[in-house]
Amino acid sequence: MNLQTPSSHISIRKFTLGDARRVREVACNTAFQGAMPKRTRIDKNLLADILTLYYTRFEPESIIVADLNGIVVGYIMGSLKPRRFRKKTFQLFLSTILAKFVCGRYKKIFQIFPLLLFVIFGLMKGERDPKTEDEYPAHLHINIEKEYQKSGLGSKLMSAWIQYVGEKHIHGIYLSTISTNKKAIEFFKKWGFRLFYRYKSTFWSFVSGKHVCVEIFVKKLSLHEKQN
Ligand SMILES: CC(C)(COP(=O)(O)OP(=O)(O)OC[C@H]1O[C@@H](n2cnc3c(N)ncnc32)[C@H](O)[C@@H]1OP(=O)(O)O)[C@@H](O)C(=O)NCCC(=O)NCCS
Repeated sequence: MNLQTPSSHISIRKFTLGDARRVREVACNTAFQGAMPKRTRIDKNLLADILTLYYTRFEPESIIVADLNGIVVGYIMGSLKPRRFRKKTFQLFLSTILAKFVCGRYKKIFQIFPLLLFVIFGLMKGERDPKTEDEYPAHLHINIEKEYQKSGLGSKLMSAWIQYVGEKHIHGIYLSTISTNKKAIEFFKKWGFRLFYRYKSTFWSFVSGKHVCVEIFVKKLSLHEKQN
């Protein structure tokens, strides 16, 4: 945390459309655990579109942000509607991402070809998340700018999001991370998530330059969390 900035100066509030630009920036700054090794240096607009467009466009009500003097320094976002998420993500891919791609709106697109290849290799090997939506319909992403981490902000965002999900009578949440993201794993365990499934990831191993697994964590909401 920036020492000049006590966490009490940061407010936790609902997302508004004016936050979209900062949410995109935070997503890019913290993607790949903030490391962004050379081989994942892809166009930031493309990365931001992939990481945030569905949520900011189709489920903005499910985004909560951490706001420091009007500037978003972190967020938690997700979907409570798995079928809609799948359908709209597919549509977004065709109508926006592929269209921008073809019109040359993303720069240095050749840099994503190795990444795409490794995604395809992984899929060919059967590497994919298991179906969890019946028991765990909601999923989330949480990202905080590096200088504001480890100061309780993540916990404040998670607490607010779990309350929001509970109010919607959703009974379970899942998320996906990678085995090398130790601080996130500690964070999720502290919040009562348990490891549900793990598989070796060709894509993430290529990105990280070492053997990496995708880990799926899940959490059932307790009666107390649903009533709060
Ligand atoms: C993971 C993340 C959301 C945690 O948020 P945070 O504000 O840093 O976490 P908090 O300060 O609320 O910490 C709560 C608990 O999480 C765990 N934790 C957080 N950071 C940790 C770290 N660097 N090392 C070990 N444990 C850590 C601890 O159990 C901590 O409890 P404690 O303070 O009593 O030790 C944040 O580090 C982040 O945005 N990381 C980059 C993006 C990312 O990896 N997102 C998850 C992708 S799946």
